Amino acid sequence: MIKISNQKKTKKVILKYLEANSNNFIPPLSGRVNLDLFSKKINKYARQSWVFDRDEIVGFMACYVNDPENETAYITTISILEKYKGQGLGMMLLKDCIDFAKNNGFKKVKLEVSKINTAAISFYEKQGFYIVDCSFLSFFMAKNI
Ligand SMILES: CC(C)(COP(=O)(O)OP(=O)(O)OC[C@H]1O[C@@H](n2cnc3c(N)ncnc32)[C@H](O)[C@@H]1OP(=O)(O)O)[C@@H](O)C(=O)NCCC(=O)NCCS
Repeated sequence: MIKISNQKKTKKVILKYLEANSNNFIPPLSGRVNLDLFSKKINKYARQSWVFDRDEIVGFMACYVNDPENETAYITTISILEKYKGQGLGMMLLKDCIDFAKNNGFKKVKLEVSKINTAAISFYEKQGFYIVDCSFLSFFMAKNI
């Protein structure tokens, strides 16, 4: 049985998940961020959404919904384990975050995605995100909510 939990997990649990799933990202997450510091920051500031299949963690999303002045939430990471991809779970996570942000008065959600991560770009476009800016390596995408 699949379910989503927003119960906050410790930095240690977040780090363990991200280390195990670093290669799921294009390019690998560990090459772009310091996973230890990243996990600490997520634990401190982000809303966490975990996907479970019974007792097993099969997906994770972290979103900063802490900038009410700009009414903008920021998705900092989202991933679904390989075996569980393509079943609508990523979409479920996004909806969970967007609904939460919307219910708290936020008007926009933003994110950064690597230009070579075409699967993730298609995924976000399918959910109504559009490219608003770019850097050498990344696209910045947004969705009004
Ligand atoms: C991006 C990711 C979270 C999507 O999760 P998912 O559960 O597989 O996605 P869903 O099943 O909810 O897909 C929803 C829609 O997104 C699009 N999509 C998802 N994966 C896609 C892919 N590989 N290629 C093209 N479109 C894709 C499809 O339109 C899909 O709808 P459809 O199944 O009706 O065609 C997942 O592929 C992942 O974990 N990627 C590795 C980590 C990563 O790169 N995260 C993003 C970092 S910014």
